[in-house]
Amino acid sequence: MKIAIINGPNLNLLGQREPGIYGQQSFDDYIRQLRAEFPDIEITYFQSNVEGELVTALQESSRTCQGIVLNPAAYTHTSIAIGDAVAAIQIPVVEVHISNVQAREEFRKLNYVSAKAVGTITGLGLKGYELAIRWLLSKQHP
Ligand code: DQA
Repeated sequence: MKIAIINGPNLNLLGQREPGIYGQQSFDDYIRQLRAEFPDIEITYFQSNVEGELVTALQESSRTCQGIVLNPAAYTHTSIAIGDAVAAIQIPVVEVHISNVQAREEFRKLNYVSAKAVGTITGLGLKGYELAIRWLLSKQHP
């Protein structure tokens, strides 16, 4: 099984970026842990600060993977294109947010992605990615 993790803008700065909200661990470090935890699946990783690149990554991953874990970051709240891309593809997309977006600023309550994803995990830190993968695996092997 192959699962894609796709991260949006500024998530390349995890570990340095607002550590009180997003934690102290870099994503490179976390994904090493994640791959060790799931040795039997292939986990691809793509991060971009560019909206269209995220749309392309969703489309391309949908042709090669069985599930996608997507954190669209700030584009969650602005991007009809990313919401449309999630709606357009056939494989399950689980949306993950590290922070509890509902407990933050008002503008983060607007979300163009949740309604198109199979489900959303929010506020559980980096652990949300692991939980999303576990759910995708459970759908593959019920
Ligand atoms: C985020 C929440 C978004 O509101 C924010 O813009 C991010 C990260 C999260 O993972 O908590 O960049 O998606």
